Amino acid sequence: MDKTNQKRRNIIIVSNRLPFILEKTEDGNIEVGKGAGGLVTAMAAVLKSRDGTWIGWPGYVEESDIEGSMLPAIQSAASGYSVKPVMLNSYELKNYYEGFSNSILWPLFHNFTDKCIFLSEYWKSYKEVNEKFAVTVYQNADDLDFLWVHDYQLILVGSQLRKMHVGNKIGFFLHIPFPPMDTFARCPWRCELLSAMLEYDLLGFQTIQDKRNFIGCLKKIIQHAGIDEKIEYDQAVSEFQFGNRLVRIGVFPISIDYSEISFKAKDDKARKRVGEARRNNPDSKIVLGVDRLDYTKGIPEKLKAFGRFLTLFPKFHKKVQCIQVVVPSRKEIKAYAELRLKIEQLVGEINGKFGTGDWLPVQYMFRTLDNGELISLYRKSEIAFIASLKDGMNLVAKEYCACNIDEKGVLILSEFAGAAQQFYKDAIVVNPYDVDGTAMAIYRAFTMPLEERKSSMRNLRQNVKNKDVFWWLNSFFNGAFEKDLPVLPLVDEYFPCNFVRHPKAWKS
Ligand code: UDP
Ligand code: G6P
Repeated sequence: MDKTNQKRRNIIIVSNRLPFILEKTEDGNIEVGKGAGGLVTAMAAVLKSRDGTWIGWPGYVEESDIEGSMLPAIQSAASGYSVKPVMLNSYELKNYYEGFSNSILWPLFHNFTDKCIFLSEYWKSYKEVNEKFAVTVYQNADDLDFLWVHDYQLILVGSQLRKMHVGNKIGFFLHIPFPPMDTFARCPWRCELLSAMLEYDLLGFQTIQDKRNFIGCLKKIIQHAGIDEKIEYDQAVSEFQFGNRLVRIGVFPISIDYSEISFKAKDDKARKRVGEARRNNPDSKIVLGVDRLDYTKGIPEKLKAFGRFLTLFPKFHKKVQCIQVVVPSRKEIKAYAELRLKIEQLVGEINGKFGTGDWLPVQYMFRTLDNGELISLYRKSEIAFIASLKDGMNLVAKEYCACNIDEKGVLILSEFAGAAQQFYKDAIVVNPYDVDGTAMAIYRAFTMPLEERKSSMRNLRQNVKNKDVFWWLNSFFNGAFEKDLPVLPLVDEYFPCNFVRHPKAWKS
């Protein structure tokens, strides 16, 4: 990436969350915690490589604190870029964040329509908070700044800025999937959302499938959008005329700072921690899960498959352990609280059924880990297991590969994670709804010959290295700024369903 070139253009990143969370301790001090999630991981890497401004919400705090002690704490938490906080009150938290964002758009876009609660007060608050973000952008942007809005919580910010006559180039990146027409059409505010998206200059999606779904929805729902039949579904970036502006739509699979994370994985602290863990448990092999508490992540399905694996293959008892990290998220929302109970019940059932005095089949952690802990977990695990029922990309999969410096690990990856479009040739791809097939995949991963593991992991690591977060940033910038429509290589093919190898074939 030509970092020097990009420094000339100031960039303003707008996302619901800042990369840290402020919390008040019992003695009244302010503590700065780490925000979780792929968006924060990727954008923190981007802003570390170039200065700019990040506009977002620093977690819930009372409004009275805003002007006093909060601002210095917020600014000092960010290194190398400036931060403009947008505060939410409890009404907005309930209606905009827990409501429209996470009880309508999140489940709808992930195809969990039964979890959608379509309330008009949620929509009202979503519009108001999007306007609040837009006002903060307006107050902090110069004419030439590139404004880059992120994710489903802030879809309307671009159109709000246009209403304020902001003529800057504005990009939008959707970190989560875009649903097919039949699903999206259920949303009572479908026209408003789609029209607002057309106010951006460049719309970025994670996969070709998401881009296709979006264009399909435009064609059906916004008839006057001028999307003609000629628009290329399968090109990395396409453009069309909307009013007096050109709108571009592109595919940019998000990624990680490969060199930083693989460098950290090699350092002494990580090596020491991994060595210790291996000495303490020389015969035990680990299958690792790291997920935010979310029903899209397929955590119960993963646990069920692991339980099935233990039933089918007793010779692995006491020789394997599943470590499942669940990062607390959106705990106030009923569906999330229920999911937590379900996970904890399943962990209890598996440990109760198979555990012995000296073997705990599932080690469960419900907390946010720091970077060092996470990296040593990645390093010491023989298998990483991602069972998402639907996922925009899944950066945990990429982080696991980047940390796998001895190239002996195996990635088990759900075909419904965006990352599968990139990794399907070298990961063991599973359908997490198929418990037996997934249990066989775990068996396959534990018994895969070393040479096969090495060549697959080498390919996976090369893939992540070539398409790291700076490659992603560069591609998005080219999509936004190249005069002629950029011809970007399409990195994610839409892999054929019949590619998923039948578990029975693995036996032969
Ligand atoms: N992560 C974290 N702390 C943890 C566990 C995970 O910060 O204790 C990070 C992890 O390193 C990854 C991100 O959270 O970068 C999860 O991103 P992913 O795309 O896998 O899923 P998302 O949570 O965004 O749906
Ligand atoms: C996903 C979303 C992000 C969000 C993150 C954490 O990665 O795409 O926009 O920031 O989850 O969720 P939270 O609700 O805690 O911000």
